Amino acid sequence: MLVMALSNCFEVMSTRCSIRWFKQDPIPLDIVNKLIEIATRAPTAHGAEQWFFIIVYSEEKRREIHRLLKLAHKCHAEEALINPYSPEIVDKWMKRIDQGMYMAPLYIAAYIDMRKRVYREEFFECEKSMAIQSLAAAIENLIIAAWSMGIGSVWLGVPLLLREEFNKILNPPPGCELQSIIALGYPAETPKPRKRKNISEVTLVI
Ligand SMILES: Cc1cc2nc3c(=O)[nH]c(=O)nc-3n(C[C@H](O)[C@H](O)[C@H](O)COP(=O)(O)O)c2cc1C
Repeated sequence: MLVMALSNCFEVMSTRCSIRWFKQDPIPLDIVNKLIEIATRAPTAHGAEQWFFIIVYSEEKRREIHRLLKLAHKCHAEEALINPYSPEIVDKWMKRIDQGMYMAPLYIAAYIDMRKRVYREEFFECEKSMAIQSLAAAIENLIIAAWSMGIGSVWLGVPLLLREEFNKILNPPPGCELQSIIALGYPAETPKPRKRKNISEVTLVI
């Protein structure tokens, strides 16, 4: 198993790219625990740590998640997008999912945990937004740390389109709301880092 160890923060961040094809070798549980630990070092609004992670190791659950990921990507491509993909492209994508795209040896379902509240009811939306931002910071910590250890990942938002179906499989505690699922594993593909907009397009200096 190839494990590249990157230690420079800028190098890790600038070489990371989403991985959607994984080797099926399991990620050892002590590494998974380290990843969760580093995730929870992220900044967290009010110091409240309103996050919860469900670690999906079991093959049975992973197969169910993979089956739902196919449906969720289909819903994304055909129903959610303002400009839906053509039937040919959807067909091709679904075939690739059947062939193993997104099938990972590990999924981590990321929830906001609103069981312990900080703000009064009328400010709930602000609190929730801050919990989502904190969770996103934790996810980024996790995927960057994973990449530094040669573990690839893809951050998946489409589970939001079928939240209830995913929750039936994942069984979260009440008060927790699914935000995303991260698929992780040793890469079985080597994509190049994808292009970004020039910084002048996304900044305003005042
Ligand atoms: C919030 C969020 C949701 C995403 N959801 C999906 C998804 O459902 N399926 C998928 O294949 N990629 C998903 N991605 C990955 C993006 O497509 C990817 O980050 C983007 O194309 C840039 O590519 P890169 O990560 O390789 O730089 C998501 C990324 C983020 C941050």
